[in-house]
Amino acid sequence: FPPSRVRNFSIIAHVDHGKSTLADRLLELTRTIRKDHGQPQYLDKLQVERERGITVKAQTATMFFDYPDVASAASPSFPNPSGQPGPTAEPTPKPALPLSRTVVNPPPPGFASLLATTTDSVPGPGPGLGPGPGPGPVSVPVAGRGHGLSKGAGVVGRYLLNLVDTPGHVDFSYEVSRSLSACQGVLLLVDACQGIQAQTVANFYLAFEAGLTIIPIVNKIDQPNADPERVILQLERTFDLPASEVLLTSAKTGQGLHALLPAVIERIPPPGGDPLQPLRMQVLDSFYDDYKGVICHVAVVDGSLKKADRVVSCSTGQSYEVLDVGIMHPELTPTDVLLTGQVGYVITGMRSTQEASVGDTFHHAKCPVEPLPGFKPAKHMVFAGVYPANGSEFEALESAVARLTCNDPSVSVSKETSGALGVGFRCGFLGLLHLDVFHQRLDQEYGAQVITTTPTVPYVFEYADGTRLDVQNPATVPARPTSRLVKAMEPVVTATIIAPAEYVGSLMTLCTERRGEQLEYSFIDSSRALLKYRLPLREVVTDFYNQLKGLTSGYASFDYEEAGYQEADLVKMDVLLNGQPVDALSSIVHRSKAQRAGRELVGRLKKVIDRQMFEVTIQAAIAGKPIASETLSAMRKNVLAKCYGGDVTRKRKLLEKQKEGKKRMKRIGSIDVPQEAFHQLLKT
Ligand code: GTP
Repeated sequence: FPPSRVRNFSIIAHVDHGKSTLADRLLELTRTIRKDHGQPQYLDKLQVERERGITVKAQTATMFFDYPDVASAASPSFPNPSGQPGPTAEPTPKPALPLSRTVVNPPPPGFASLLATTTDSVPGPGPGLGPGPGPGPVSVPVAGRGHGLSKGAGVVGRYLLNLVDTPGHVDFSYEVSRSLSACQGVLLLVDACQGIQAQTVANFYLAFEAGLTIIPIVNKIDQPNADPERVILQLERTFDLPASEVLLTSAKTGQGLHALLPAVIERIPPPGGDPLQPLRMQVLDSFYDDYKGVICHVAVVDGSLKKADRVVSCSTGQSYEVLDVGIMHPELTPTDVLLTGQVGYVITGMRSTQEASVGDTFHHAKCPVEPLPGFKPAKHMVFAGVYPANGSEFEALESAVARLTCNDPSVSVSKETSGALGVGFRCGFLGLLHLDVFHQRLDQEYGAQVITTTPTVPYVFEYADGTRLDVQNPATVPARPTSRLVKAMEPVVTATIIAPAEYVGSLMTLCTERRGEQLEYSFIDSSRALLKYRLPLREVVTDFYNQLKGLTSGYASFDYEEAGYQEADLVKMDVLLNGQPVDALSSIVHRSKAQRAGRELVGRLKKVIDRQMFEVTIQAAIAGKPIASETLSAMRKNVLAKCYGGDVTRKRKLLEKQKEGKKRMKRIGSIDVPQEAFHQLLKT
């Protein structure tokens, strides 16, 4: 496959607009996976992805598509509950440009077996390696720019398409921007009922600023309340995307899908690298496999890579032998070679994913190259302490954290010690959902029972003696500093909110209460408004999204991006249990809100901390002075109190539940504090 026969594209959309479902359909359409694989959202492989129905990790799949042999690709019938004409009933589109010239292009050795499988009608996944008929003549255009194929051309023959499925949630937009670096185009998917949402806007600009070709798609047209015309107008008005370029699909019924891959070939340009130049290969991602070791997900920008080649990392100078190389079809499929413009995997015997830093460039030994521009490092928006629920399990936690961060390098980790919780880690995350997913993966994939402390945003404190404190943990801020605090800075974000016009008033009130500053107020159509606000990040992570959804009956969508720091009047608030400060419960608050936050917090803590055998005073204090106080009277909670009669199984269940709950308790002094207490700060 010369670069002219390769297309790298991604699907981007607001959460739940159907990316993963569409990816499944495309994999089925190209017979990369079986229709009856019995596993919806094939590319969502992690347990948390399946449980939560969200994509967390971007995934790539390579497909082969015969252009313009659309009718045969689309012919397997899709379930079509609507009874409307399916893809088979629709006409086959013509290629945009005629074939320019056909030459015989000898295939690289490793592809022979792979092509043999894809040329034969293979019913399902799996490489099915072995001798085959081999590829026939491959059409290569000779005219046009770049690699001979200008944008808009589509030459009859077989194409290699790399599809990158990306996460939709704002926390994972880092994954999106990284995935886009390997693509030349995107399918911008919009739900035909919901229309443009906040992340549609954010993702559009990510792709637009990266200079990618954008194919707008209105999906879910099978839904009874679908209004594709309205969405087409929104796309025109908001992004200047002409109505004539919009494709209409239903990833559920298969309607309209026949036109999609031809549009990818016709509209998205091939990758622009040079096959004759020395190898330049970029690491897009890496993950650890218990059997195979570190697997790097790479894009070959120039030149080509073969099995047994020796490659060198530009960043470390370390050299490695290529033990295995191939494509994701959609599982790892060895091909022995990766050519210019292709996306695939490489195994080199690296021991840890730290050796395969994301964005690094590799070249052939003895052929040094200029490294490719790396990726912007992930920006950590929230930090939290991660501690073993049982103090003696620190080593086990350390190994679990190390292994998980191998597969999720966007988490930052450093060791810390808390007076209340013992030895643990301070971790930086891209957002609250990311933290939640990390916590869940530690538990599910590595069996690590942990306590996570209240997430905090990173502040900066500057003192009169010139010292500067980067505050990732509020406990590190001295309650009575030796030098005067001259400046406190907090991170801010630019938030985009899209909502029906009738909610604008209450949304403005909410943003003002959250110390927001309005930047833009416009309409994307006659009934939906777009608001842009600069907001302190702390206000956004403290229950903002739930309030926003509540105020607008779920009709508002929200997205944000970091926008630097601003000066703010901040103070440290401590929590004292029976007079003892609990470092893990400290927080930084705006002075104007400290009183209210203190009262709310002690009230909430009183509700979640079980009564003890003795009385417990819960206080919030600033610089040692209490600002709010509550008392928890003595008495141990009896979980069986409400369990009348003698149903033994029910009693046992309750006791087991209590035992389970206890695992997540921390004994602070002599007081048992449940995990839930550490999350109450977020709600105040
Ligand atoms: P994230 O990965 O969380 O960003 O979501 P996503 O955009 O990948 O959405 P997903 O494919 O998980 O689809 C969300 C829901 O919409 C699922 O319940 C799908 O079954 C449903 N869905 C997707 N496409 C269609 C469609 O064309 N029509 C209908 N009616 N439902 C669809």
